[in-house]
Amino acid sequence: MKIFAANFKMNKGQKETAEYLADFNPKCNDARVMVAVPFTSLSATKNAKKQVEIGAQNVHFAPSGAYTGEISAEMLVEAGATFCIVAHSERRKYFGETDETAAKRAKAAIDAGLDVIFCIGEDLAVREKGTFKRKLTTQLKNGLKPIDDSTHLIVAYEPVWAIGTGKVADVDTIAETHAHIRKFLNKKYNKFVPILYGGSVSEKNVAGICATKNVDGVLVGGASLDSARMKELILNGNK
Ligand code: PGA
Repeated sequence: MKIFAANFKMNKGQKETAEYLADFNPKCNDARVMVAVPFTSLSATKNAKKQVEIGAQNVHFAPSGAYTGEISAEMLVEAGATFCIVAHSERRKYFGETDETAAKRAKAAIDAGLDVIFCIGEDLAVREKGTFKRKLTTQLKNGLKPIDDSTHLIVAYEPVWAIGTGKVADVDTIAETHAHIRKFLNKKYNKFVPILYGGSVSEKNVAGICATKNVDGVLVGGASLDSARMKELILNGNK
């Protein structure tokens, strides 16, 4: 079963989210469709079709307390989220996310009953130096340290150089990298953990990406913002 996850990032307030979801009825037999909306738009997701899972893009690790501007996992659950993205590269780059804080977020989210899409990925300098496997292993080892049970875990491999750039990783690169991630996950967990690819996925390249070994779905930013494109992307990737 493939997973198609949309990440709206800081796009679509309540009105646009409600309009998008009212019309979003992808033909997705045997696929999981997930949409991560901005916090304030969670309250505008009541009209989402049953098969569309609604989630958030970040979560704080404490259940409550003096953390001005933060949102807890319990609050997300109360607002209707069933999953949460953790450690997206934009959180790492602009908001000081580390493997250690990401680990705490993932644990808090899973403990509160959310599924977690845990993001990892190397930047261009690391890819060019050829040390990406070491980098990804470190992110996985430290980021997933407190997660002993993988039932609610999804890992997303998103090379930083491919996010929002239109430069999608080629399928050989994806296959080699996902095989490395799979090896780590198989060793740590006794359950299958889905691995998504993310970074400039579109309705045009999704079929090849989804047909690649160890790719269990995609995490989509830009192309997910148009519901017609996202529907086409799901159709093309789910063949
Ligand atoms: P993109 O973003 O599809 O626009 O490259 C993907 C992501 O950041 O999750």
